[in-house]
Amino acid sequence: MNSNVHLIDHPLVQHKLTLMRRKDASTNTFRRLLNEISALMAYEVTRDMPMQEVEVETPLETMTAKVIDGKKLVFVSILRAGNGILEGMLSVVPGARVGHVGLYRDPKTLTAVEYYFKMPKDMEERDVVIVDPMLATGNSAIAAVERLKELNPKSVKFVCLLTCPEGIAALHKVHPDVPIYTAAIDRQLNDHGYILPGLGDAGDRIFGTQ
Ligand code: URA
Repeated sequence: MNSNVHLIDHPLVQHKLTLMRRKDASTNTFRRLLNEISALMAYEVTRDMPMQEVEVETPLETMTAKVIDGKKLVFVSILRAGNGILEGMLSVVPGARVGHVGLYRDPKTLTAVEYYFKMPKDMEERDVVIVDPMLATGNSAIAAVERLKELNPKSVKFVCLLTCPEGIAALHKVHPDVPIYTAAIDRQLNDHGYILPGLGDAGDRIFGTQ
């Protein structure tokens, strides 16, 4: 596998993902499982965050100990399904900043059209983690990465729950430097841009809008 793709195959993640795929999983169950998986994925995506040593006084002694270095991380949600990942990630990194990119898929061309873009200040001093449950055609991911790179962040990573070979190839053709973190690489895309076997429309399943 491409070394810039991190497959998070932890048993807890895989188990929860299987439960989410079931077509009869309720909105409540789907959302709760996505929260739980997102928290677990946050551990993986923050594994290489830079650390610095600080002095700390315990009740017994003074010691040097590690804390995370630098400006706060930014989670960037691709609306609207990306919001389903935010809460779980923020439960692990509560001080993170949050940006939003609004993109919708033109149903005919499947290309991404931007309608909203709001980021925190000082982006050039921050590491960015873009979140979207499904990396399918790659069009939204490519558009979001392109817009974010205009702000010169220190780094950009992409986290999804599910992807497919077509999605990885499309994103890495344009942005090979952006690592992809995913819980599964499914078989293929269908003609409507859905991942097979997949889990259906992630936004509809998170928000109960089917
Ligand atoms: N977006 C979804 O919600 N599901 C897919 O399978 C592909 C894109």
